[in-house]
Amino acid sequence: MKEGQFVGPVRVLVTGGSGLLGKAIEHVVMNEGLKREGEEWIFLSSKDADLVDLKQTRDVFEKYRPTHVIHLAAKVGGLFQHMKENLHFLRDNLRINDNLLQTAHEMDVVKVVSCLSSCIFPDKTTYPIDETMIHNGPPHDSNFGYSYAKRMIDVQNRGYFQQHGRHYTAAIPTNVVGPYDNFNIENGHVLSALINRTHKAKVEGTSLTVCGTGAARRQFIYSLDVGRLLVWVLREYEEIEPIILSVGEEDEISIKDAVEMIAEALDFKGEIKYDTSLSDGQLRKTASNAKLRRYRPDFNFTPVKEAIKLTCDWFLANYDIARK
Ligand SMILES: NC(=O)c1ccc[n+]([C@@H]2O[C@H](COP(=O)([O-])OP(=O)(O)OC[C@H]3O[C@@H](n4cnc5c(N)ncnc54)[C@H](OP(=O)(O)O)[C@@H]3O)[C@@H](O)[C@H]2O)c1
Repeated sequence: MKEGQFVGPVRVLVTGGSGLLGKAIEHVVMNEGLKREGEEWIFLSSKDADLVDLKQTRDVFEKYRPTHVIHLAAKVGGLFQHMKENLHFLRDNLRINDNLLQTAHEMDVVKVVSCLSSCIFPDKTTYPIDETMIHNGPPHDSNFGYSYAKRMIDVQNRGYFQQHGRHYTAAIPTNVVGPYDNFNIENGHVLSALINRTHKAKVEGTSLTVCGTGAARRQFIYSLDVGRLLVWVLREYEEIEPIILSVGEEDEISIKDAVEMIAEALDFKGEIKYDTSLSDGQLRKTASNAKLRRYRPDFNFTPVKEAIKLTCDWFLANYDIARK
């Protein structure tokens, strides 16, 4: 259902509102004029409700009575944490998503947009990957728990539509970079962990060691771009099938390219070493943004170099509060 066709006061609940994407949505809604008159936006963190727990999920929905939900909350981690704890990632995310979607249905929420991730796509596949290919084979072994839990959101959305006519859908951002990410060296996302690592090497006057060969390739998207697109998905996108939110295939870069951009942004002049004994993760997962481009041919993506520079600047300016 298009939000415009919904009659009555709109209350949008954003789960995972304290994270990288939650903060990006908050920024674009509150500071870029995307908030419409009469709309209420509520941003939740795990402190408001642990969504693994059904009662807490129901209580927070009772409290705010949302009409629309952007569901970002997830147990997320870096490559090495996923490799160690696939079962935890599977069970917590299955519960979070089931609690969220069923409670939304019971409380008559008219639209839910959940976030999947490009790492849930089949490991052995043809490129570019598109939205029709999510279930076409096992995901990469390193994060199978998280991936299968995320894939089930798509299955659930189909079920809620078939059985109850619900317009619950999902967006699939590729690798996001931006302020408020987790910059933890062990558990952070690849670029943010690298930003922290590079900063540390600069401050300590050491060389920088990058995990893996640097050959893996990724499409990085700036968090505020994803925020703008998620608000559009909530308001305008009517399909149940997911939509990939990504820069074009031609904008994919290698980790080595990204490391050089970070070094430039942070003015790091030391030696850069690659520890080739460590895993690169999936070597590529190139995604097609053709569907997005059909809907939004004119959307202007922030160039990756600028996105990295803005993230580095934010990290330095907010070093004390940054998750690390
Ligand atoms: N970042 C990416 O590159 C990327 C790419 C594709 C898709 N995604 C998806 O986008 C969504 C948001 O990612 P993100 O990078 O913004 O994550 P993030 O920065 O790690 O934030 C995670 C959010 O989820 C909340 N959360 C975690 N466990 C929870 C629980 N048990 N109950 C309630 N809330 C809980 C956290 O709350 P606290 O702050 O209180 O811990 C936080 O607000 C996720 O679903 C992720 O899979 C992310």
